[in-house]
Amino acid sequence: MITRLSTLFLRTLREDPADAEVPSHKLLTRAGYIRRAAPGIYSWMPLGYRVYRKIEAIVREEMDKISQEVHFPALLPREPYEASGRWTEYGDNLFRLKDRKKGDYLLGPTHEEMFTLMVKDIVSSYKQLPLALYQIQTKYRDEARPRAGILRGREFVMKDSYTFDIDDAGLEAAYQRHREAYIKIFDRLGFSYAIVSAMAGAMGGSKSEEFLAEAKVGEDTYVRCTNCDYAANVEAVAVPAAPTLSAGEIAKLPGARVHDTPDTPTIDTLVDLLNAAHPRTDGRVWTAADTLKNLLVMLHQPDGTVLPLAIGVPGDREVDMKRLEAQVAPAEPVPFSEADFATYPALAKGYVGPGVLGEDSATGIRYVVDPRVSGGTAWVTGADSPGHHVIGLVAGRDFSADGTIQAAEVRDGDPCPVCGAPLESARGIEMGHIFQLGRKYADALGLQVLDQNGKLVTVTMGSYGIGVSRAVAAIAENTCDDKGLVWPREVAPADVHLVIAGKGDDIRDAAERIASELASAGIDVMLDDRDASPGVKFADAELIGVPTIVVIGRGLKDGVVEVRDRASGDRSDVPVREAVSRIVEAVRG
Ligand SMILES: Nc1ncnc2c1ncn2[C@@H]1O[C@H](COP(=O)(O)OP(=O)(O)O)[C@@H](O)[C@H]1O
Ligand SMILES: [Mg+2]
Ligand SMILES: [Zn+2]
Repeated sequence: MITRLSTLFLRTLREDPADAEVPSHKLLTRAGYIRRAAPGIYSWMPLGYRVYRKIEAIVREEMDKISQEVHFPALLPREPYEASGRWTEYGDNLFRLKDRKKGDYLLGPTHEEMFTLMVKDIVSSYKQLPLALYQIQTKYRDEARPRAGILRGREFVMKDSYTFDIDDAGLEAAYQRHREAYIKIFDRLGFSYAIVSAMAGAMGGSKSEEFLAEAKVGEDTYVRCTNCDYAANVEAVAVPAAPTLSAGEIAKLPGARVHDTPDTPTIDTLVDLLNAAHPRTDGRVWTAADTLKNLLVMLHQPDGTVLPLAIGVPGDREVDMKRLEAQVAPAEPVPFSEADFATYPALAKGYVGPGVLGEDSATGIRYVVDPRVSGGTAWVTGADSPGHHVIGLVAGRDFSADGTIQAAEVRDGDPCPVCGAPLESARGIEMGHIFQLGRKYADALGLQVLDQNGKLVTVTMGSYGIGVSRAVAAIAENTCDDKGLVWPREVAPADVHLVIAGKGDDIRDAAERIASELASAGIDVMLDDRDASPGVKFADAELIGVPTIVVIGRGLKDGVVEVRDRASGDRSDVPVREAVSRIVEAVRG
């Protein structure tokens, strides 16, 4: 096939669009792949839709080997989502609408309920299992922060699949089949990615992994061990509990003492004052890690109710809001406002300590602490009156929490939870997510089948997503350079980009002949036959990002054309006679 730039529905832009923050969004817009229709909603132009369809085809080809394709509507009735609890749980992220009869509908954010109900209708015996179904479908989520173009849209395309098994072993096998298929898909898509343990989050269920495209602009932070193969989204990092002291050892610790610590509402001011006025006797100086700071948040539940929560972490660490969000989902944590503090007079802002926290305390506020705050650890913390702190407050002796929480920030150099070696962090874009849902939806919607013994059992499910439209941007983000897009072969909008660089019939004739010979050999050719200067054409070729660029111009009088590799920048002169075979070779690799 030959695509002529003279007639292609395309206008490239020299300037970055004003609303674009990340390279992929800028480049996809400038190179004429996508156009914004509304915030978080995009239209595909011809080049963009080609790349999108190639990605979709790869996903479909690999999924067809392990699953059967179906297709659900995007416009869905309320009832199944009511039964699973998600009509409410999804909160403001759900697009809800009414039909003319005032019936409630939604635009599907993901389709667990519909798949479960369809299978319930058709399947009644273990003999019909295992079963795997998938679709490639447009999803709708009214994201609070639609961002970075098609990376986080409000309308986007997802491949979602679901597996149905009679027992846990079946689910594990289905999960592994998906994991393998995902590895094949992402290898073929041609970008670098990491597979990391993830939180099952609002979906319920247990085992879960994410496939993250490596990208500096990624919204997800993950850590990997510098020694073993542990890798996890920071949301899913479980810091092991620090060792606890025995009752006898705790009894030997010095008693807690309250001190005047005027004007020390921050950890830094507190540590300075401690070292000046209350130096330690063991030769060490006080550091922020010796202090226990308590953060207060209001948890906004999807049903509108609000509950306070206090989180205690060592003072040298912040509470990581994304880790906290993952722990309290579907509730949303919002830091205490002045008005919230005012409703709890026992809380001395800046000097809040465990004395007034906990379900059995004066405030009744649930109090959860970092696992480092284990029995026998001694802390400097607020004494619950302005300008006062307590030194040597011992967990398990002087206070106890209602539970622990994994919400403190994870840092480079922290010990790996598996082997203890230092962790290092990187950022990524979530491309795929596989998880063992278990029986949550089957229970909620009554999906049961008869087992070998004629007994009714609840089916166990897996759920697996790939961001198909997001992949266009994630691959672009992962592979682009400062000149433009750089597509991996399998997803490029064409195999070769021929530039007619010069005037004259011989140049044009040679280009036309090479183009048609390539097309006959089954190569997808983009031919820049426009009346533009070579400089403009070169810049566009680099911006558009087809993997092989061939320049037919000045060299022709010496019998050569130039073949450029877009990714490496390598250039070589090739005799015209060999041009076609050499280009075919480059394309077929
Ligand atoms: N707003 C979005 N825009 C584009 N792709 C998305 C969006 N939300 C999710 N996806 C894609 O769909 C896949 C499966 O979605 P899911 O795991 O339910 O998303 P999330 O973890 O954001 O809730 C994700 O891995 C991601 O690739
Ligand atoms: Mg996910
Ligand atoms: Zn390790």
